[in-house]
Amino acid sequence: MQTKRESEAASEPGQKTAHIPASIDETLDLLAGADYVADRALATVLFLALRLGRPLFLEGEAGVGKTEIAKVLAKSLGRQLIRLQCYEGLDVAAAVYEWNYAAQMMAIRLAEASGETDRERLEHDIFSQRYLIERPLLQALEPSPSGAPILLIDELDRTDEAFEAFLLEILSDYQVTIPELGTIHADKPPIVIITSNRTREIHDALKRRCLYHWVGYPDLQRELAIVAARAPNAPKRLTQELVAFVQKLRGQDLFKSPGVAETLDWASALVELDAVALDPALVSDTLGVLLKYQDDIAKIEGAKAKQLVDEVQSELRSHAVAAGA
Ligand SMILES: Nc1ncnc2c1ncn2[C@@H]1O[C@H](COP(=O)(O)OP(=O)(O)OP(=O)(O)O)[C@@H](O)[C@H]1O
Ligand SMILES: [Mg+2]
Repeated sequence: MQTKRESEAASEPGQKTAHIPASIDETLDLLAGADYVADRALATVLFLALRLGRPLFLEGEAGVGKTEIAKVLAKSLGRQLIRLQCYEGLDVAAAVYEWNYAAQMMAIRLAEASGETDRERLEHDIFSQRYLIERPLLQALEPSPSGAPILLIDELDRTDEAFEAFLLEILSDYQVTIPELGTIHADKPPIVIITSNRTREIHDALKRRCLYHWVGYPDLQRELAIVAARAPNAPKRLTQELVAFVQKLRGQDLFKSPGVAETLDWASALVELDAVALDPALVSDTLGVLLKYQDDIAKIEGAKAKQLVDEVQSELRSHAVAAGA
């Protein structure tokens, strides 16, 4: 099943619903409260999307925190998270609704067996809410006790343009028409986050409805803060070295640079190996946590890894000397 409803946030007993932040600083604090370290540009666009009630369209490299922001938002606002994972061939039946044909057939058989002859009533019965299977986009239009849910439409670039056009319709008026049932309209539109890895361009018409933000790799300071928040067990020196190493790696000519997700995986792996600092052999042996293409690994392991570790360590030493002076 490619679509799923994630209700961990609001359904937790005792979970409080927080208010939409009133400023950019409050937005930063809200995210930081759930260990998400955003830069001011992202916090600004998120704040505006929340205040103006516009969908937020996030594009960027893999593993830089696009999906995570919707999860964090649901958790910290105490809202339900409804996730639509996009894929090639995604259609209305998987994204919006479908009729439960098996149950409808069963109802028809039972009606026939009991001598039911009123066809109109039977038709009315089997095309009622009871036989409707609601998929994420329809779920997101329904009222929720914890307030408008967060609707995450993840990796939109994997779907085709026909689905995009359909989505445009839903995002225009937050309603869906089911011919047999009528129109379902959201009283409170969901908070919509759309992500894309830009494997293809998303149509302008859809982008126009959204606020747009490109999520890039974090700079050194922000990545240090992310590792401190998400991998707090890593010793300080190791954290500084590994983050500086990853930052340098992103400057190399690689097929696929490591994202934040890989940095965090590497931090956990190195802690698991009881490392307190980097050394060239350790880096070469664990490169598979950071790089997922053999050509990239071959390029870095050995001499290049040693050169980068030396650079990182001498830069950190000179910073320490400068700070102490
Ligand atoms: N700014 C951040 N603050 C805290 N954690 C972050 C941040 N950015 C990324 N992460 C961490 O990186 C992991 C990967 O992030 P996420 O899955 O959101 O990436 P993504 O951009 O959606 O990647 P993909 O395009 O591959 O789906 C998250 O689980 C989270 O722990
Ligand atoms: Mg993602």
